[in-house]
Amino acid sequence: LGMAEVHLNEELECEMTASRLVYELDTTGELLVDLGSDQTSCHNPFSGGYYPVQLGFEEAKQLLSTNPGKFRTLVQESLKRHVAAINRLADKGMFFWDYGNAFLLEAQRAGADVQKRGANKTEFRYPSYVQHIMGDIFSLGFGPFRWVCTSGDPQDLATTDSIAMSVLEESIRQGVSTSVKQQYHDNIRWIREAGRHSLVVGSQARILYSDQRGRVSIAVAINRAISEGRIKAPVVLSRDHHDVSGTDSPYRETSNIYDGSAFCADMAVQNFVGDAFRGATWVALHNGGGVGWGEVINGGFGLVLDGSKEAEERAKMMLSWDVSNGVARRCWSGNDYAYEMICQTMKENAALKVTLPHKVVDENILEQALKH
Ligand SMILES: NC(=O)c1ccc[n+]([C@@H]2O[C@H](COP(=O)([O-])OP(=O)(O)OC[C@H]3O[C@@H](n4cnc5c(N)ncnc54)[C@H](O)[C@@H]3O)[C@@H](O)[C@H]2O)c1
Repeated sequence: LGMAEVHLNEELECEMTASRLVYELDTTGELLVDLGSDQTSCHNPFSGGYYPVQLGFEEAKQLLSTNPGKFRTLVQESLKRHVAAINRLADKGMFFWDYGNAFLLEAQRAGADVQKRGANKTEFRYPSYVQHIMGDIFSLGFGPFRWVCTSGDPQDLATTDSIAMSVLEESIRQGVSTSVKQQYHDNIRWIREAGRHSLVVGSQARILYSDQRGRVSIAVAINRAISEGRIKAPVVLSRDHHDVSGTDSPYRETSNIYDGSAFCADMAVQNFVGDAFRGATWVALHNGGGVGWGEVINGGFGLVLDGSKEAEERAKMMLSWDVSNGVARRCWSGNDYAYEMICQTMKENAALKVTLPHKVVDENILEQALKH
């Protein structure tokens, strides 16, 4: 986006794949930007995550070690200039969004003009990608479920891919809602083609976006394959932080929670404790990943499937909690998909009892309440 301020002429060809910018010639002859985001490491802006535009790389590195205070001031000036360029382009029609790297947060702290007009300090004039682009799939319980084949054998990974694909296809045959079906179709396509793309560079591991039902069914089927010897060694289940339940992060994972609770850490903590009691092999509760220390709490887990009956029970209990905890919370905060999904999950599992929220029918009541 440093380039965004430059008036590019018609002949110039732009190849800025990394910065995800799309240029277009407008009627004035200027090349303007249609879509914009920023991917600097703004979760750590003053220790090398963001380099100020005023200095060259070597110069900046030196200043960082000799005068970190001055470096910080230059970063903040640079961020203000950066946002001024974004605002100018946005005024001409660019769609800008936050990538989940604390860019808007740090820009605001630097004094840049990113606050939404007439809103409180926590609302920015540009959305986070979770608010605007992902389509609230977390409320449907979808997130990056993943597993690692401890045998390290690519053949085991191929077997798990094929198991996951059959499980999702079978779920569609048994019937899923329209919103879930679309996600399943995308995920089936991904898992069918994943092996062919040779993406594995280390551990034989796979990520597959899935909902609660999919995660539990895949885990049970993989566990069975281990017990039958079709997979040679245990498989470890986990997921990303960027998921339904594990992370409280008002500038990323929980940025589309609008009832004020996005600024609490309860969900991640309950996720961590609940997973621990329901059979996770290990759990972790930590702070700061991706958006900066003090801005996020993450709960994570690992669960070893060893082919035993106990492992199957643990997977059923723990994965259900790991997803439903967050869906329930998103339901209470008024996210519609989450309401739909938690009702559906209660139908499928009579043991699950979630208190349902009562929707405010007359918005004026809220206005009145705020006035008093
Ligand atoms: N949305 C998500 O799920 C998600 C996923 C991964 C990472 N992230 C976040 O995205 C950020 C970037 O992650 P990464 O792994 O790509 O980090 P990285 O440090 O590898 O890349 C950041 C890049 O920004 C460049 N840069 C620094 N200052 C710049 C400036 N003023 N102008 C232009 N470029 C500049 C650096 O040279 C570097 O290439 C992090 O804050 C990370 O937490 C978000």
